[in-house]
Amino acid sequence: MSQNETILILDFGSQYTQLIARRVRENNVYSEIVPFSVDPEKARSINPAGIILSGGPASVYTKNAPFCHKDIFSMNVPILGICYGMQIGCMELGSKVTPSTKREYGETACKIIDSSNLFDSIDGDITVWNSHGDQITDLSGRFVSLASTTNCPFAAVKHSDSDFYGLQFHPEVTHTPDGSQILRNFVYKICGCSGAWQTGSFLEETIAEIKEQVKDKKVVCALSGGVDSSVTAAIINKAIGKQLTCIFVDNGLLRHNEAEYISKTFNGNFNLDFNLINAQDRFVTKLKGVLDPEKKRKIIGHEFISVFTEEAGKLKDATFLAQGTLYPDVIESVSVHGGPTATIKSHHNVGGLPENMDLELVEPLRFLFKDEVRKLGHELGLPDEIIWQHPFPGPGLSVRIIGEITTERLEILRNADKITIDEIKAAGMYREISQAFAVLIPLGTVGVMGDERSYENVIAIRAVKTTDFMTADWVDLPNSLLRTISSRIINEVKGVNRVAYDISTKPPSTIEWE
Ligand code: XMP
Repeated sequence: MSQNETILILDFGSQYTQLIARRVRENNVYSEIVPFSVDPEKARSINPAGIILSGGPASVYTKNAPFCHKDIFSMNVPILGICYGMQIGCMELGSKVTPSTKREYGETACKIIDSSNLFDSIDGDITVWNSHGDQITDLSGRFVSLASTTNCPFAAVKHSDSDFYGLQFHPEVTHTPDGSQILRNFVYKICGCSGAWQTGSFLEETIAEIKEQVKDKKVVCALSGGVDSSVTAAIINKAIGKQLTCIFVDNGLLRHNEAEYISKTFNGNFNLDFNLINAQDRFVTKLKGVLDPEKKRKIIGHEFISVFTEEAGKLKDATFLAQGTLYPDVIESVSVHGGPTATIKSHHNVGGLPENMDLELVEPLRFLFKDEVRKLGHELGLPDEIIWQHPFPGPGLSVRIIGEITTERLEILRNADKITIDEIKAAGMYREISQAFAVLIPLGTVGVMGDERSYENVIAIRAVKTTDFMTADWVDLPNSLLRTISSRIINEVKGVNRVAYDISTKPPSTIEWE
């Protein structure tokens, strides 16, 4: 994608590199992450307004420490080095880096010495977030200190003869409260960006690019109804209308009225070729007698591919496959420990589609983060129910029923899940929760209904908060809400006589139960 104002971020393996990209974009300036080893010619071809060198876990003195090509420093654009990025930049420009006697880790008081340029509108003492063992020692006399901490006289520097700036601390994390302003100063005051990048302009440019790529050919899209595939379908539809065919496979493992809702949304509001494939029996039959969760996943993945390729095969002239791949899935990840090797993360593949389908990919969201996709979905007129929905796994309710899948169990879980979500929404808590759902445990615990003992199923409720789904904490739902959910499920869902709330964190417990 070509942008007039791009900040290029060289990734030295910091866990915060993506955060730097986001902070820059929050200022309406487009940013792109490339590995630290980027070819200077390629970097030049992007024509960046500025470059940021990220932090990284290595020490400049370790064997195989990652360095970028020295020509990066003669591109005549402002450069900001952060932590490790500062150290390699300062080394390249004549300073020394030494292990400091006192490591700085965590929140640190920092004194601003020069309140212009990088620290414009920031005065006096600020709190910054540090994580470093080495620091620069300016023996060259070519650096001006802009800020200092008790243990580090060069907490921020400017090179006297060029537009190289260095920060020993991390401005991209929220623990550096003035960090956003510092990055804003870098992109606006130092790089001269105007801040014209917005999802609105992204929409127009992307539509033009899709038209250019697809021309008069046909595109097929596996629409799952999730936010990524829905926004993908909506934007491609906006570009090429009925040249797009969407295939929505109802595998019988969906939530209450889900297929009907997606069908109605896309058929009613978008001028596209929407195909709802009812494959419920195929999936449920294949899952008969299967108890092992991994086997369930494999069967469902395999069956999905069969159904999708059969249906896509009916469209004889489809040339392109649309995928809702997002930016975090395509950034080339840098592994610094054990040698600076640049590897490309495997692309996440919608529904695990086979690579041998011989279709060219259209991935209009590959430069966006999730929150940007949501904004775009809003601009494209998708309903909030789709834009803000919690993630739903590909194998659907099958990994939320412990043991065998039967149509009766699916019906019980669907009803319990609907009550859970309806009540969470009614309490106004849906958006602050990352993922919430019900799980069916077909245990047959004892209960008394009327005068008789009953042996019926348990429903567990899970509600978690997370930023990356790698770790998660359970949500402290109000007792009154839990009480309403429990009493409604027991009263309204036949086959359930007990409701439990899952109070386990991830790790060790995963978010899904199977
Ligand atoms: P876990 O259970 O691993 O879930 O903590 C993390 C996130 O991934 C989702 N998930 C899946 N998504 N196919 C998917 O498409 C799967 O097999 C699968 N298993 C878990 C889960 O819902 C959560 O958002």
